[in-house]
Amino acid sequence: MLPEADTSAERAALERALDHALRWLDGRDERPVGPTVGAPELRRRLRRALPEGPTDAVTIVDELARDVDGGLMGNNAGRFFAWVMGGAVPAAIAADWLASAWDQNAGITATAPAVAVIEEVAGAWMLDLLELPGEASFGFTTGCQMAHLTALAAARRRLLLDRGWDPERRGLRGSPPLRVLSGEHGHETVDRAAQFLGIGTENVHRVATAGGRMNPDSLAEALGAAGDDAVVVCLSAGDIHGGRFDDFRTLIPLCRRRPSTWVHVDGAFGLWVRVSDRHRGHLDGVEEADSWIVDGHKWLNTTFDAGFVAVRDRDAHRGAMTAEAPYISDGGARDPVDWNPEWSRRARAVPVYAAIRALGRSGIAGVVDRCCDAVARIVSGLGEMPGAEVVMPVTTNQGLVRFLDPSGEDDDAFTERVVAALQADGTAFFTGMSWHGVSVMRVTAVGWNTTPDDVEATLAAAASVLSRLGREAAAPSA
Ligand SMILES: Cc1ncc(COP(=O)(O)O)c(C=O)c1O
Repeated sequence: MLPEADTSAERAALERALDHALRWLDGRDERPVGPTVGAPELRRRLRRALPEGPTDAVTIVDELARDVDGGLMGNNAGRFFAWVMGGAVPAAIAADWLASAWDQNAGITATAPAVAVIEEVAGAWMLDLLELPGEASFGFTTGCQMAHLTALAAARRRLLLDRGWDPERRGLRGSPPLRVLSGEHGHETVDRAAQFLGIGTENVHRVATAGGRMNPDSLAEALGAAGDDAVVVCLSAGDIHGGRFDDFRTLIPLCRRRPSTWVHVDGAFGLWVRVSDRHRGHLDGVEEADSWIVDGHKWLNTTFDAGFVAVRDRDAHRGAMTAEAPYISDGGARDPVDWNPEWSRRARAVPVYAAIRALGRSGIAGVVDRCCDAVARIVSGLGEMPGAEVVMPVTTNQGLVRFLDPSGEDDDAFTERVVAALQADGTAFFTGMSWHGVSVMRVTAVGWNTTPDDVEATLAAAASVLSRLGREAAAPSA
């Protein structure tokens, strides 16, 4: 038996979802920031026999909320400082719900006219906020992974077409060679885009950095070593480890001296710095590139699924993505399907539109500045604690610290213990990683709701964890 279309049942399910959602959001600053329940327990709760018949929506919603309890990550909390994730602003969450209720297929204008227009408006706003060329084409993607893929596909098309080869039609067998140059600390999603596009990860060459920024001499050398290959140079506007920005004013002109060279900028979070009067200098000259990517689900604080790609060469972008099918033609309207790699898809520009309205240019700048202040204060505060060392000083919203083992035995293991103990403490959430062979803790923030009180509570928790672990490490083992 199928569930019947019944507005009272819909209302009941949505109202329950609202109750559960509000409970989750209201508790974000009280509960431990990280999950407290592991995968085995979550599997025990969520794995059921495949349902042979229907279940009513209220039961499903209630049981879902009950079963995930303790297993959700509190990236919407004010004391979350890990990966590069924040939480969505209320308008984005609400607009995302509307997008689900409207259930529009945002692939083409004919199936979702209002959403197609929202996408046009949101895209133009994004170009304006980020001060990218107003005539650039754009697409909304799942995230920066697919934004990279879209931009690199456009680059591949332009560079190979210029050599008389149409990659969309002919594929890559026998095509002119194409390589990608990416900074030493370039994000792995660049390599993955090359993998998807048939460029091949072997053809992604790393360029050395100095102080976290691409070294111009190393780039010049790598461009020379490329011989006659067509080249895509991927620059960083905020790398995930140190938040460093490449020197666009120096590097882009260097690329422009060479034919067959496309400049792409990974600004997954860092491109948002453009709206901040205090930090925008890091992005000087970035508008001279050929393509740019950024995530709404980072500093704009939309719900996830809000990647954005902008491309100077509209023809290359459209040619690389366009979908030809007689049944989708809409007499010249801008069909989203022509600008991203998907076909049917959700109306992901709706929360972007809402978040931009909710924050406005000044609100986004405020979030950027507040996060940068928070990370600077946390990193300097941690750095002053006994045994702590700042490995990567903060320029915007990323920093790295490590903790020296008081027993002098193993600093890496001790750093990992500190990260695990902080996660278990639950006041705040950080992650660790290996940086040039040493274990470090990353400190990062993009969330809209991190306050100075959150920062001080975090430092107090870190001080107490460090002093406890320090005492344990210094104590002679029993
Ligand atoms: C610099 C950088 N590039 C690319 C990505 C990948 O973005 P997404 O996870 O939206 O695909 C990230 C993710 O944090 C990032 O920080």
